[in-house]
Order: sequence, then C-alpha cells, then structure tokens
Amino acid sequence: MGEKNVSMAVDLGGVRMKNPVNTASGTFGFGKQFEGFFDVARLGAITTKGCSAVPWAGNPAPRMCEVPSGMMNTVGLANPGVAGMVEQFGDYLAGLEDRDCRVIVQAAGHSVEEYVAAVEKIEELCPWASGVEMNISCPNIARGGALVGGTPESAAEVVRAVRPRVHRPLLVKMAPVRVPEIARACEAEGADALSLINTINGMSIDVRTRRSRLSKPTGGVSGPAIHAIAVRMVWEAANAVKIPVNGMGGVASWQDAAEMILAGATSVTVGTANFYDPTCASRVVDGLAAWAAEQGVADINELIGAVEC
Ligand SMILES: Cc1cc2nc3c(=O)[nH]c(=O)nc-3n(C[C@H](O)[C@H](O)[C@H](O)COP(=O)(O)O)c2cc1C
Repeated sequence: MGEKNVSMAVDLGGVRMKNPVNTASGTFGFGKQFEGFFDVARLGAITTKGCSAVPWAGNPAPRMCEVPSGMMNTVGLANPGVAGMVEQFGDYLAGLEDRDCRVIVQAAGHSVEEYVAAVEKIEELCPWASGVEMNISCPNIARGGALVGGTPESAAEVVRAVRPRVHRPLLVKMAPVRVPEIARACEAEGADALSLINTINGMSIDVRTRRSRLSKPTGGVSGPAIHAIAVRMVWEAANAVKIPVNGMGGVASWQDAAEMILAGATSVTVGTANFYDPTCASRVVDGLAAWAAEQGVADINELIGAVEC
C-alpha cells in the first residue's frame, strides 16, 4: 500500500484532523512563530498556550533549565489572556483554520471560577476555534496549591462546571496522576477527549550554588526523559475510557508518535522537541504516513490501540 493511499484523518472527539499530529500547549507559541520553519498548516492541529480570562505574568526567571534527555520548566502559565491572544494572533489562528489545520485553544485557571471565566472568554472571542482544551494540571490556589485535577472528585467538579459553557469539543488535559480513575471521572462529566500527559514534577539543583536551577524548588520535567512513562499512561487512559486520547510526552520522532498510536492515542502531540528541533512535528506527519503504509493498513485508525501485549 503506497503512503498516498492511506487515510490519515482522525476524529479527536469532534475535532476532525486531516492527520493525527498536534503540538503541545506552551511549546509552540501560537503557531505563527513556527511559520518560518515549515508550513504549519501541514499539521492536523495546533494547541495554543494556556490562556486565562485575564493576563498572567507567571513565575520569575529562571523558568527553564535543561536536564538529561529533557528540560524542566516553571513558567507558571504566563500568558497574555484570551483577549490578548486574540488581539495578537486571532487573525492568524482563524486563517490557520481556513488552511485546514484545527486550532485548539487552551483554557487555564487556578479555581473553578477562573476556568469558567476563561472558557466564557474563549466562547465569546474565538468563534474560529475547533476545540477547547482545559488544562486541569494547574495548582488550585484556594486549596493550598493541590492540583485542580489531582483527584477524580476535583477533576469531575471542574469539568462539570465548564462543560455546559463550552459549545464545541471539550478536551481535558490531565496531570500524570491516578490516570484511569481521573480519565473515567472526566468522561463521566462529558469530556469529548483527554490529553495526556502534562509534565512530571521534578527537581534540579546547582551543586555549586546549592540552589534550585529554577526560581522555584521544583518544576515540570518534559521531553524524551518522560516518554516511556507517557506511553504507559496513554495506554492506561485509552483502556479506561471510550473517548479518544491525545497522547503526548517526549514525542521527538515518528517512531515515538507511532508508539503513542499503538498504545491507544487517536492523535499525537509534539512538545519539548519543538524547542530544539522546530521542524519535528512536520517530519512526524511524513513519518507516520510512511509507517502506516509499511504496516499495510488503508486507514491510520486501524493502528490506534493495536499494540499486542
Ligand atoms: C515551557 C513549557 C510550557 C508549557 N506550558 C503548558 C501550558 O500552558 N499548558 C499545558 O497544559 N501544558 C503546558 N506544558 C506541558 C506540555 O504541553 C506537555 O504536556 C508536556 O511538556 C509533555 O510533552 P513533551 O514531553 O513532548 O514536552 C508546557 C511545557 C513546557 C516545556
């Protein structure tokens, strides 16, 4: 089977993508920044940086550092707010939709009220967006910094509040904790798809200064260092729910993406690799098509969850 004959389209909970390749929130700006490297419209979708109802400054520098096979960040969800994003990138993002690349706008919050405010702004100001992704891996300030989506109960509470206000596909971006239970809780409250994994909490110390290498004691680890953990969690989620899974975590090649699909991911998202290899996502599109042809399938969907354990 030639790769031109393989259907690569996937349906991520109502977000209809021409191929399964997406980019991870916070690692791809608002897409426009990457147009100088490749034609961003080659991708099935992009996901924006998480935006809140009002702009957030985020954490002080240093906010990022390298660690073996990955990086750590404590960006703290710095963002221009939904209106700021629309002012700077709205025309570009609407045009990207016209170019057949789906735009998923991510909502950020520190409390149920802040998520509701963020999705209401997205509904009002982003009519072009194909989907809304809610990042529930944020700390809940009112609850001592525990993750908003750190338990099935707290995840269910925020999805329940937001669901009736989002009139297009709602994706929930999960923290890498209690995956099957939280996945089921989000599905039960009406999520259309799940995105995972977010970064895994880590710590890196400069042994000369004896200080954390970030402005906070700990930060989120991402990149190839977390890939095998991410594949396992995607597999767990895909086996726990019926809604589709958007798999990410250390995807840096088409082989990594293919692993995610075999583990049960309907779409695959490139994150940290965008920083050091800005054409990575574009090459993953080509690599996946060639792999599907080599596997002898007529449709990439035949390979979703096709791992033989
Ligand atoms: C600098 C940076 C900023 C990020 N910002 C966000 C964000 O705003 N919202 C979110 O859900 N995830 C954010 N993430 C997490 C990524 O979207 C992704 O889930 C994670 O990095 C795992 O994928 P990767 O190993 O391919 O990077 C960020 C990651 C990095 C490295």
